[in-house]
Amino acid sequence: MKQLNWGELTPALFLEQYWQKKPLLIKNAFSNFEDPISADELAGLAMEQEIESRIISQSPSKEWQVSHGPFESFEQFGESYWTLLVQAVNNWSAQTHALLSPFRFIPNWRIDDIMVSFSTPRGGVGAHLDQYDVFIIQGEGKRHWQIGAPDPSLQALLPHPDLKQVSDFTPVIDVITEPGDLLYIPPNHPHNGYAIENSLNYSIGFQAPNSQDLWSGFADKLLDEDSGTTRLNDADRQPTESPEVLSWQDIGKIKSMMLQTLDNEAGFNDFVGRFLTQSHHALEILIPVTPISESQLAELLDDEQVQFIPVSGIKALLIESPNKCLYINGESIPLDEDNQALASVLAKSRSLTAIKLKGFTDSLKNKELLSKILNKGYWYIE
Ligand code: SIN
Ligand code: CO
Repeated sequence: MKQLNWGELTPALFLEQYWQKKPLLIKNAFSNFEDPISADELAGLAMEQEIESRIISQSPSKEWQVSHGPFESFEQFGESYWTLLVQAVNNWSAQTHALLSPFRFIPNWRIDDIMVSFSTPRGGVGAHLDQYDVFIIQGEGKRHWQIGAPDPSLQALLPHPDLKQVSDFTPVIDVITEPGDLLYIPPNHPHNGYAIENSLNYSIGFQAPNSQDLWSGFADKLLDEDSGTTRLNDADRQPTESPEVLSWQDIGKIKSMMLQTLDNEAGFNDFVGRFLTQSHHALEILIPVTPISESQLAELLDDEQVQFIPVSGIKALLIESPNKCLYINGESIPLDEDNQALASVLAKSRSLTAIKLKGFTDSLKNKELLSKILNKGYWYIE
């Protein structure tokens, strides 16, 4: 992936001035931008059962319609007024996944996936808000994008049960995007894009958990592990004259019992690392039919032609304290002192040559770590 031409900005200035604050347009952010996927390939993905896709179209009377994939053909949609949206294309196209590389100044865990849209002339999803930050790269074609500021007076519209649109807004960015242009849209900023000509757009979406998701994920962990089962202790109870009152002291005890459950650093890290590396869409994980043995691994590491490749879109991260741990695809892999350099290379999730990896495998622990991620199908060999 080419470099991002930040112009007057730098990643640090972008974070300070724009991130989660205001929208941004960078014209020609990527010079000579080349689409990592074609409209035909995208249509092919939308025919697959396990890939989430939808087509939003407007009938000649401008009525909104939503069709859900998998699709068998696209002919019935005609030449204009429709857009195809395919979720998590980076899980199926490593070239599309490579679009993330200029955005690595934001940690892995914050990035969710890349949705790709193909729009015919006048095609778009209508004016709407998203709850997440998004970068949109304009690929092939041209699109008219308008982005506004948050505005509580905007009306929520429901032109179709599957579409949450908003009323017209005053744009602060109003532009015809061309190949290589980049938009940044913070959460809850109204935006609307319709194609001028057949157009591909790449939406790099971020994840930011809300408290509801976190509490519910944490409750799942307690249930899975059958932990947090200790009951309230009130051996110090004094007689009450108001048995109908739930006292602030008792409320305090209940609250501190709940907080204590969270206040276990290793347990909380384990939860958050696993929670944030769960994939929200199907991945192309292929578990080897017979597990790779130690001697097979040694042979592979000696073969200069061999590449070790992470499953496209798989989420991985490292937590460094109090215990060092690699989290990958919702699973925790505790690390040893010996493992840390290798784990950090693996968590960056870029293809590695056998030669590069061999340097790590004098240590038995590293061989075990490598076998584990290969035998789980998180990485594969080519
Ligand atoms: C798109 O139509 O390419 C992006 C949709 C959106 O604004 O979320
Ligand atoms: Co949007």
